[in-house]
Amino acid sequence: MQPQLIEKYTKPVPRYTSYPTAPHFNSDVGNETYKSWLGDLKKDDSLSLYVHIPFCDTLCWFCGCHTKHTLKYQPVADYLPVLMKEITAISKYAKNRPTATRLHWGGGSPTILNPEDILRLANHIKSSFECSDDLEFSIEIDPRGISDEQLDAMAEAGLTRASIGVQDFNPHVQEKINRIQTYEETKRVVDGLRARGVNSLNLDVMYGLPNQTQQDVEATVDKVISLGPDRIAFFGYAHVPWMKKHQTMILEKSLPDNSERFQQANHAAKRLIEAGYQQIGLDHFAKPDDALAVAERENRLARNFQGYTEDNADALLGFGASSIGKLPQGYVQNITATSDYMREIEDNGVAIAKGYALSDEDRMRAHLIEKLMCDYAIDTGDLTRKFGTLAKPIELELQDLHAHDEEGFIIKNEGHYSISEEGRPYIRSIAATFDTFFASGKARHSSAV
Ligand SMILES: C[S@@+](CC[C@H](N)C(=O)[O-])C[C@H]1O[C@@H](n2cnc3c(N)ncnc32)[C@H](O)[C@@H]1O
Ligand code: SF4
Repeated sequence: MQPQLIEKYTKPVPRYTSYPTAPHFNSDVGNETYKSWLGDLKKDDSLSLYVHIPFCDTLCWFCGCHTKHTLKYQPVADYLPVLMKEITAISKYAKNRPTATRLHWGGGSPTILNPEDILRLANHIKSSFECSDDLEFSIEIDPRGISDEQLDAMAEAGLTRASIGVQDFNPHVQEKINRIQTYEETKRVVDGLRARGVNSLNLDVMYGLPNQTQQDVEATVDKVISLGPDRIAFFGYAHVPWMKKHQTMILEKSLPDNSERFQQANHAAKRLIEAGYQQIGLDHFAKPDDALAVAERENRLARNFQGYTEDNADALLGFGASSIGKLPQGYVQNITATSDYMREIEDNGVAIAKGYALSDEDRMRAHLIEKLMCDYAIDTGDLTRKFGTLAKPIELELQDLHAHDEEGFIIKNEGHYSISEEGRPYIRSIAATFDTFFASGKARHSSAV
């Protein structure tokens, strides 16, 4: 890829895990709106539950997640009963008792929880919400220092899928990101989970890290492949030190430039594909028989706050500080600061800081952007069938995009527009042209590649 193209298309843009994106949520949506939206959920609606644990016992300097470093267990022990209080309250407001089909614990590091608390929290969720018999239960796992007792507790709690953080296996990169993690300790956790019947595994890998070279990325990818995960999330490091102060520990001059990032992503993708993985959207890979790969082939892929998913639940309910929910009417986000969140839950049982009520036009643009991000294609006939005359301006916007497409990234076939192989890495920038909020330039984002 030519350097000038990389420069043209690497203007900072959102990752589009939602539309509109979180910086455009507003305080018009608060606790009362959320309660009424919860009350509107129907008995036969399906739910995806997300639980956020905002603590880690070491802090990685690249981390963009909402988390806090703690060496003591007390802040975690104090947080847990508050989180459980929120779960109880929300389950009551969802009075028609919709059924949860998915449960995901993220963070931070949910594996900071001790075995007793893992079971306590899982049991509390299962007794508060109706859960389907085949509940898919996943946890984000930091493999460093995890005990057999914690693995036993997760298996006993009904874990079906695990997502394990790796990032990079090379000591000189690990040193620069404050995350020392050997291949052997990672393998112990992979083997330990499989021995306990948790066979569906994802590993997180990163490129664009400080002092990381193409060789480092490839060596990490080879080791990851040797562990045989069903899925691999391959994230480009998002450097946003104006939002995450600890990222200032990473010197900008140690970061690979956009062209090098591009090469790292490309070479690693090639290796993963050669090893039999199917590429899913921008940054995921899966074995061809994995549910995510099947969904991709059947154009059922979706985006949620964790990235690409085949989750098609009617609503996503988030619990814990900073968590985001999505209901048919719109988005809600909990208070971010953990202490403020805890105070609000103690007082009110609900702690919404902001949200967004979707208009019909927002829904149409959200669908369009999701289709572009997932399928690399958009069909104006399909848009019109779903959204009627609201889709009219999109036809013109697509025609305009096609007319100004000097690179030949947009392939037009009657009302069907698809993105060429060469244009795919720039899909976030292409999607941004349909984002009416993006033009306002209110939020700062990370590099598009
Ligand atoms: C909550 S962590 C995963 C679980 C656990 N805390 C761990 O680190 O092993 C989520 C994942 O997000 C990715 N991530 C975190 N910060 C990032 C950033 N600034 N840019 C891109 N990806 C990032 C990492 O791959 C990380 O594994
Ligand atoms: S990457 Fe994981 S372990 Fe590291 S600071 Fe972020 S949430 Fe914590």
